[in-house]
Amino acid sequence: MDATIRFWVALQLLFVVCILGICGGASEGPPITRIAFGSCANQSAPQPIWNAIIDFDPQLFIWLGDNIYGDNRRPFKIFGKDRTIGPWKNVPRFVPASEQEMRSRYLMAKSNPGYSRLRERAQVIGTWDDHDYGLNDAGKEFSGKYTNQRLMLDFLDEAPDSPRRKQAGVYASYLFGPKGKQIKVILLDTRFHRDSLFSDGSILGDSQWTWLEGELKGPASEITIIVSSIQVISNHSAVTAPLFYMESWGRFPKERERLYKLIKSSKRDGIFFISGDVHFGEIARYDCGNNYSLYDITSSGLTQAVEKAVPTPFNFLVRLAAWLTPTTMRVYGHECRQKSCTYGQPNFGAIEIDWDASPVTLKVGVRDMNGKPVTSINILLTELQAGKTQKSRAKNGGYGQHCTLEVDLPWMVRHRLIFLIYLGFSGM
Ligand SMILES: *[C@@H]1O[C@H](CO)[C@@H](O)[C@H](O)[C@H]1NC(C)=O
Ligand SMILES: *[C@@H]1O[C@H](CO)[C@@H](O)[C@H](O)[C@H]1NC(C)=O
Ligand SMILES: *[C@@H]1O[C@H](CO)[C@@H](O)[C@H](O)[C@H]1NC(C)=O
Repeated sequence: MDATIRFWVALQLLFVVCILGICGGASEGPPITRIAFGSCANQSAPQPIWNAIIDFDPQLFIWLGDNIYGDNRRPFKIFGKDRTIGPWKNVPRFVPASEQEMRSRYLMAKSNPGYSRLRERAQVIGTWDDHDYGLNDAGKEFSGKYTNQRLMLDFLDEAPDSPRRKQAGVYASYLFGPKGKQIKVILLDTRFHRDSLFSDGSILGDSQWTWLEGELKGPASEITIIVSSIQVISNHSAVTAPLFYMESWGRFPKERERLYKLIKSSKRDGIFFISGDVHFGEIARYDCGNNYSLYDITSSGLTQAVEKAVPTPFNFLVRLAAWLTPTTMRVYGHECRQKSCTYGQPNFGAIEIDWDASPVTLKVGVRDMNGKPVTSINILLTELQAGKTQKSRAKNGGYGQHCTLEVDLPWMVRHRLIFLIYLGFSGM
């Protein structure tokens, strides 16, 4: 070939490569403006909420875990032969399912008509939590994790040759949108490497930490969403223990501190968290972990929700408890349906990005079965930049700084819920 022809062939090749969206190594495709997310979906129960999610018309849906209830649960029994509750229990309440059972539960979830319709319209990605990992509250010790990783990645249609199938754990990252409007989504695996509860050990494990550091210190993106199955910012256990404990990063204080430090040292702008697990919706914010405020938008669950765990006439008690539970991180936004600013009926998370606004604006929050917001806030992308948020928040936000940890509340405040329950019982 002579030089001119070679030049034209090369140019055409480059053109084709760029059309395929792989030129420059960056992701392409249209800007993402609508993302939905959700957690805690019982595959055996009706899942009408998919209709509201489809109406929201997301380009991307993110599973936050408990995408199925894979493990087997014994009945709640305080007395009798097989006692599953209380210090006197003699059998475990949760037991792992067989591979066959797990597979058929995944099939049931995947063939749900609402979810199937969503899959035709939106890209679906996700991570897992304990019940789809295979066992309630399980961590690295759980031996079913290798098999279940394969089943979970089948559920998400992960390619047979995907590196995600060869690594230990389901963590992954994605880049969406054209340059200048890029969104990075980092899915964490909070199960595969997690040390036992109460150990104050590791959640992510060494290999995932190394990977995460690379992801955060790598090329910038306008927005970075860190997806954690369990809550990062709220530490409800601090005010509910020893009555009951919830899983969260707060239960692993050293590990959480390491996460905040890494985010801060990465100097990356535009980061926020989304999480699931707790069976209610909530928005939390922490102002002292980074050079800008860190938000955690929790949506839980698509079917499993705290108010559904009690008969309807007692829903007010759940709401009362939610309102009385002390909280230092919760954001009391403008669009709270309930006084507590939590939401204990089925819900999904919604993120809308207005790239044309100046500055770019995000509307993030939690929506109900009808797609109506139940708690939501607007965030200017400029607020997620070093040095800016805390000042502007303190001035205009009206809710001051969120820096006091739940464990540092005065004793009486911290134990208010337990105190009231005790009073309630002793008055009966
Ligand atoms: C899921 O739903 C089925 C059918 O309603 C019910 O029997 C089962 O207990 C539910 N599982 C969980 C974990 O709530
Ligand atoms: C969260 O609460 C638990 C339970 O009280 C406590 O052990 C832990 O230290 C708290 N974490 C933080 C970061 O305050
Ligand atoms: C970030 O915080 C550190 C320590 O608080 C401070 O020294 C640094 O100047 C801050 N950086 C920016 C860009 O605000």
